[in-house]
Amino acid sequence: MAEGYYYPEEIIEEVIGRNDIVDVVSDYVKIKRKGKDYFGLCPFHSEKTPSFSVVPAKQIFYCFGCGKGGNAATFIKNIENIDYIDSIKYLADRVAMVLPESNNPGELKKQQKMKRLLAINHETAKFYYQQLKTQESMEARQYFKMRGVTVETIKRFGLGYAQNQWNLLTMHLLSKGFKEREMVDAGVVLRSNKGAYYDRFRNRIIFPIIDIRNRVIAFGGRRLGEDGPKYLNSPETLIYNKRRHLYGMNIAKNTKNSFLILVEGYMDCISLQQAGIDYAVATLGTALTSMQAKLLKKNTSEVIIAYDSDTAGQKATIRGLDLLAKMSCNVKVLQLQEYKDPDEYIKNKGEKQFLKQVEDALPLVEYKALLLGKQFNVETNDGRIKFLNGVAKAIAQVSNAMEKELYIKRVSMKYDISENSLQIEIKKQSGEMTVEEAEKEKTLNVKLVKSNNMLEQDFLSMIAIICVENSLFTYIQQFESIGFLSSEKHKKLFQEISDRVNNEKRIDETMISSILEEEDAALFSGLAASLETSNDLRKALIEKINRYKMTITKKTLMN
Ligand code: CTP
Ligand code: MN
Repeated sequence: MAEGYYYPEEIIEEVIGRNDIVDVVSDYVKIKRKGKDYFGLCPFHSEKTPSFSVVPAKQIFYCFGCGKGGNAATFIKNIENIDYIDSIKYLADRVAMVLPESNNPGELKKQQKMKRLLAINHETAKFYYQQLKTQESMEARQYFKMRGVTVETIKRFGLGYAQNQWNLLTMHLLSKGFKEREMVDAGVVLRSNKGAYYDRFRNRIIFPIIDIRNRVIAFGGRRLGEDGPKYLNSPETLIYNKRRHLYGMNIAKNTKNSFLILVEGYMDCISLQQAGIDYAVATLGTALTSMQAKLLKKNTSEVIIAYDSDTAGQKATIRGLDLLAKMSCNVKVLQLQEYKDPDEYIKNKGEKQFLKQVEDALPLVEYKALLLGKQFNVETNDGRIKFLNGVAKAIAQVSNAMEKELYIKRVSMKYDISENSLQIEIKKQSGEMTVEEAEKEKTLNVKLVKSNNMLEQDFLSMIAIICVENSLFTYIQQFESIGFLSSEKHKKLFQEISDRVNNEKRIDETMISSILEEEDAALFSGLAASLETSNDLRKALIEKINRYKMTITKKTLMN
């Protein structure tokens, strides 16, 4: 076993082997089968036509658009933005495989540290909860009462109070044997410029953030009065990443309900849960992230978004909708009418009425149509066209054919527009069938096999080969002197490469991709990926050069 490796090679292979690439990718991306392979929209760059492919036979993924590719572990590493070894752990977890204890000293140290931070958080939560019972916490108790939070709810969520003091928690944790440095690392204590340690949360209501495994990983602190920011949260730590968790998921994961409700605030989540809606979860002060969307998807197949009714909330709603829909999660939007947030709604209208709203939640397309209707004046021709284009775009994103048809019928009736013209617009939007779009998609695949633009392909192939073996550049250096390059584009690219070589800089795929136009970059990545690097590259290069020259000669003769 090489040093620095946490696990033996064969274990890593087994982990990857047990995670079928199609399943792993499907957790994040909607992919469709086409022949032996699968295709979908690339999660690593934004695109409208699918150039992201999964090849089950080779257990790899590859994007012809951005050039990202690899096995299941590479995919996880990239999409979760974690390091390779964590992606192995993630995949092992995914198939309930127990990895042997790591013997890497760095890894062991990290695990021990995480245990310490969790212990600090656990103790801190206990402390703040206990504090609620003290004489000094009168105001906090009153606050909970004022907001209708019951004693049971406080207990269930482990809510607490941090007194208006500088170091009550620090002193308490010291007495429990924790070091100040560790408290800082856990995020509950701060260190001043002068080196004094003091509590992060002061005079705040405390919401422990508990992960799906019931561990306290961070805290949210809400101000009682008007001083300071409304919420103060734990920073990102070794054990906390706010993009990865959902508040309340530790409870909601056990619900018997068939869908989850997604809200924005701690208080919204708590309020709904208190009303018996044990399937409410909240994001943690960010727009829904793809990691959270995945966590939702893992636990349910339908999500109802109940974000605040202000514009920020609406924008966040749209983003969340798209993200979830992309993962084939059924999404709906709950309308709060004149109320600010779910907490306010349920306080005013009661649980029954809220559940009615849940039932009436709007499916994705209808919600978008509603917003578009507010945005454009459908009384004017111009407004109507814009509105319908927007609706067509929303319908184009629906993957279920029957659902699509239903929407088409409904919209055509409601807005008095023929089904046919709506169909055409939708197909244009979804890039399925217009001549232009179909052509574009075809070229992407066909180009790789049989391009009518041989020059383009040969030239990029040459460069792909040079990326693998930089020294082979000498073989095409002659081009410049004999003015052989077929186009300005090739001349420019050649010049750039030449300059780098002369400056003894390396040429690689990433660098080339970044200077190519989008379409060329896609072709280039495809060609680079299909290079058999085991073959004689020099020979392959010479073949390309000869063909390139020949094509040019033929072309000149024809003119
Ligand atoms: N938030 C935050 N920092 C802020 C404001 C908000 O982290 N300065 C996060 C919190 O997770 C909060 C959520 O964004 O729960 C939603 O904000 P808001 O609607 O203002 O909070 P509520 O939980 O609804 O709080 P309250 O009802 O007490 O006003
Ligand atoms: Mn609120």
